[in-house]
Amino acid sequence: MEIKIAVSDADIAACFAVLSQLRPHLPQADFLATIRRLEATTGFRLASVTDDGRVRAVAGIRAAEWLYAGKYLEIEDLVTAEADRSRGYGGQLFDWLVQHARAQGCRQLRLVSGVAREAAHRFYGRKGMRFEAKYFSMDLG
Ligand SMILES: CC(C)(COP(=O)(O)OP(=O)(O)OC[C@H]1O[C@@H](n2cnc3c(N)ncnc32)[C@H](O)[C@@H]1OP(=O)(O)O)[C@@H](O)C(=O)NCCC(=O)NCCS
Repeated sequence: MEIKIAVSDADIAACFAVLSQLRPHLPQADFLATIRRLEATTGFRLASVTDDGRVRAVAGIRAAEWLYAGKYLEIEDLVTAEADRSRGYGGQLFDWLVQHARAQGCRQLRLVSGVAREAAHRFYGRKGMRFEAKYFSMDLG
């Protein structure tokens, strides 16, 4: 099993099938260009778990800094291939992200998760995350 940041075009393209299970609105044709744009403009990165030559789980992450708590790593996307869930891939990817965040000097790991994703919230709770804030949004036209 290998967990790494997707660097090459092939690494990024290999994440699409799994990531699209969480983000089905993303068109495959634009996927590589979209990820490259986010990398360049926002520091976004994809991390993936590969086992037996197949991508099993993917995370979209971004390191940033805010006044409240300094440098943090945000997990913006986290998904395991449907057929591979509850086999430990998501948990190992999460643990790897914690180490990755520490290595980057982050003082906090954070994520926003839809209110309906209760099973994922239990997963985060078991990983030691606390429910800290309510998140508000408004669609703009
Ligand atoms: C949450 C998720 C990334 C965990 O990955 P995983 O590889 O299944 O994680 P692990 O095997 O290490 O841990 C499994 C635990 O995750 C939780 N879980 C959350 N959603 C789950 C799902 N749809 N199927 C199975 N387990 C899920 C369960 O608590 C499960 O524990 P259990 O096996 O004792 O029932 C994965 O289940 C997933 O992709 N869910 C759908 C997408 C999602 O909700 N992502 C989070 C967005 S905020």
